[in-house]
Amino acid sequence: MYRSHTCGELRIGNVGEQVTLAGWVQRVRKLGGMTFVDLRDRYGITQLAFDESQNADLAMCAQKLGREYVVQVTGKVTERESKNAKMETGEVEIIVSDLVILSSSETPPFTIEDETDGGDDLRMKYRYLDLRRTAVRRNLELRNSLTFEVRDFLIRRQFIETETPVLINSTPEGARDFVVPSRMNPGQFYALPQSPQLFKQLLMIAGFDRYFQIVKCFRDEDLRADRQPEFTQIDCEMSFVRQEDVVDLFEEMVKTVFRKLKGIDFKEKFIQMPWSDAMRYYGSDKPDLRFGMKFVELTDIAQNRDFAVFNNAKYVGGICAEGCAHYSRKELDGLTDFVKRPQVGAKGLVYVKYNEDGTFKSSVDKFYQTEDLKAWSERFGAKPGDLMLILSGDHIQKTQVALGQLRLEMGDRLGLRKKDEFAPLWVVDFPMFEWDEETSRWKAMHHPFTSPKAEDVDYLESEPGRVRAYAYDMVLNGVELGGGSVRIHDRELQSRVFKAIGLTQEEAEKKFGWLLTAFKYGAPPHAGLAFGLDRFVSLLAGLDSIRDCIAFPKNNSGRDVMINAPSVIETSQLDELYIKVNLPEEK
Ligand code: AMO
Repeated sequence: MYRSHTCGELRIGNVGEQVTLAGWVQRVRKLGGMTFVDLRDRYGITQLAFDESQNADLAMCAQKLGREYVVQVTGKVTERESKNAKMETGEVEIIVSDLVILSSSETPPFTIEDETDGGDDLRMKYRYLDLRRTAVRRNLELRNSLTFEVRDFLIRRQFIETETPVLINSTPEGARDFVVPSRMNPGQFYALPQSPQLFKQLLMIAGFDRYFQIVKCFRDEDLRADRQPEFTQIDCEMSFVRQEDVVDLFEEMVKTVFRKLKGIDFKEKFIQMPWSDAMRYYGSDKPDLRFGMKFVELTDIAQNRDFAVFNNAKYVGGICAEGCAHYSRKELDGLTDFVKRPQVGAKGLVYVKYNEDGTFKSSVDKFYQTEDLKAWSERFGAKPGDLMLILSGDHIQKTQVALGQLRLEMGDRLGLRKKDEFAPLWVVDFPMFEWDEETSRWKAMHHPFTSPKAEDVDYLESEPGRVRAYAYDMVLNGVELGGGSVRIHDRELQSRVFKAIGLTQEEAEKKFGWLLTAFKYGAPPHAGLAFGLDRFVSLLAGLDSIRDCIAFPKNNSGRDVMINAPSVIETSQLDELYIKVNLPEEK
């Protein structure tokens, strides 16, 4: 037996017991004739004490221990003289009588404590050392608890966890595929699944009724804080259900997770916000509702003077930042620079200060009278002391999106996006299609198996832009946590949707023939959704990046710097696959 207890286990009640512990040396301190060692494992830290006057050789041995040595100790649990209330084991220490070094360690490249001196790259290179840090390990423990609760919830409700293949053909989720060459089928490639979408639909046709899978998905897209090239979905599908059934069940699942893991009880039903309102009032299909600053539109009342910028705009609208009328020139210039960044794309920012003394000061005083500004402020519901920030543009949605970014920036500046507050909602009634400027045609906003809303089906051919879908996203704190839809189970409707996105019957057959064939054999009405597990954990843990809740994540260039992947492969391997690498010449 290597150990009788873990390093997080011993309490005052164990005093007097002879115990054996094993773990990593966190720190060694010498105080007079005593040497103290903090011994750490996954469960906690226990203080070891070596008394020079009792056993000088052993104490000398302890003093020589380096950080991260792995040791086994035997000794007696005693009550500490100076207790440490911050540690769970802080009332006791082990008076060590026997010490075995199980493994020595080189000095680690960064300190393995809560506050570390290691930069991102260094910690990623030695991720196994980073994972020894309590904070990082806790995120993975939370991930484990989340998957446990989700499995428990779903299995109790008759969902069957079913694995689907990883070597498949392209799935229609809109990102680029990662491809894998097939040696046995020269010149042919598998694609790694962007999601198990079509397989879960087949499982419904197979009569599984309720499916789920906690599953790795792969997408070759630009990376951000909430995107990894390989990530995990909680993927679900149900038969004989409507949108409300799916939304209700998964709302209950999310509430259960919050109750069990965070002790938070959401009593009310989550808001269901139509996509059009989310865009109109928050400039985003994933609004952060932890704070207000709902947009106010001024187009109709701001185009009555000589200000050409507003007069030529299709949309004029803004937000009201409470208590910010004191903003300095510098702060306002900073906000103007923010909206002019290429990622935001506004041409400029108009501000109106509603001063504490009731007067107005704006960047458009030349064009507008006090009565005008007063009328605007009434529409904003502004009070003295507030600051109104206004954008305009000739593309309604783009201007709203820019205003949405300004709203989030103000939320950040004012500390309104608190990590321990949670504001979930459903965004519903997504448009079925969006216009793709690159290819000049409509493409499915969710995916082409999503069902149009019954009342909009008639516009499929005449006005595709008007058709809304039975598609829903769960949004939490400005992050798309999950999304799904009711699927089409009628072949004729499916053909009309393919046609609307410019896919001929032949092309559809070629791409999804196997699915369309399956639909000939009795497809039940079905619907589903998938949550991003990594995003769920990182929101629960209040992390800035989903990387922090993944054991071995990729960096922003999609690299694993520890194993140095991706990497060049041997020519013999390429030859076997009949592959020639054709890199452009370096300039
Ligand atoms: P969707 O593409 O919306 O839907 O993906 C579902 C959820 O997966 C998460 N997600 C990601 N997380 C981390 N890194 C990424 N690169 C990444 N991409 C997506 C998000 C997202 O909400 N088959 C459909 C679901 C369905 O219709 O049932 C699908 O994959 O949290």
